[in-house]
Amino acid sequence: MLTQERRNLPQRPYAVPDYKISPSSASIATTNHSPSNMPRIALILGSTRTPSAGPVLAGMITSIFTPLLPADTSLTTIDLKEHPIPLYTSGAPPAGLKGDNPYPDAQTNAWSALIRSFDGFIFLTPQYNWGFPAPLKLALDALYHEWKAKPALVVSYGSHGGGKGNAQLRQVLTGLHMRLCDKFVELEFAKAHDLAGGEIEKETEEKWRAEEKRKELKQAWEVFVASFTAAA
Ligand SMILES: Cc1cc2nc3c(=O)[nH]c(=O)nc-3n(C[C@H](O)[C@H](O)[C@H](O)COP(=O)(O)O)c2cc1C
Repeated sequence: MLTQERRNLPQRPYAVPDYKISPSSASIATTNHSPSNMPRIALILGSTRTPSAGPVLAGMITSIFTPLLPADTSLTTIDLKEHPIPLYTSGAPPAGLKGDNPYPDAQTNAWSALIRSFDGFIFLTPQYNWGFPAPLKLALDALYHEWKAKPALVVSYGSHGGGKGNAQLRQVLTGLHMRLCDKFVELEFAKAHDLAGGEIEKETEEKWRAEEKRKELKQAWEVFVASFTAAA
């Protein structure tokens, strides 16, 4: 995991580190020094593929959102590869389970504790065959109360922007009774994009610049943060 945080009123431009993360890297380093009462936002990567475009896009998005973080909040990237959830084969539906360690296996209990520790979520997901990836569905279905009533923003990507996976995910998050951000973002790769690779080529960067995707992301972030405040 990688955490960025915003302390009270640093009016100078926020120092944004270089987020170009190697797409072959399975894990992202963590600097986790948030006090427990600090509102915490997690960006969850929907892809568990290697190489994946997800970590590079997470770096891009984090570098846009970090300077906009309200005071005393943090933004952490979660890679599902670091939190493998076993296939759902037994146990009561998570909606009927509450408290510490209510699940039959250690991995899901650890996942529960991690998700409980966050107050809002950005889902950054590709589209796979008109839906969102199965590991993300498993990670969502493994829990229930841990997600409920927390703000959620969906950003999708793909050769057509991942709109169908985006819509499917928003439906699932609504079913989990999350506070879904009205605005969502679709990032469509340029035609020349190598779908097998994890890099974002110049053509795609230029396309997104022309489409003002940075502005769109900032607008979505503002709505997300407003719903986050309303939830507090
Ligand atoms: C199993 C699979 C299914 C895919 N299905 C779609 C699709 O339905 N629509 C689309 O635009 N791209 C599709 N793609 C292309 C992905 O959007 C593209 O490979 C993207 O980079 C995948 O994200 P990732 O690199 O983070 O895993 C698919 C890719 C994979 C691996």
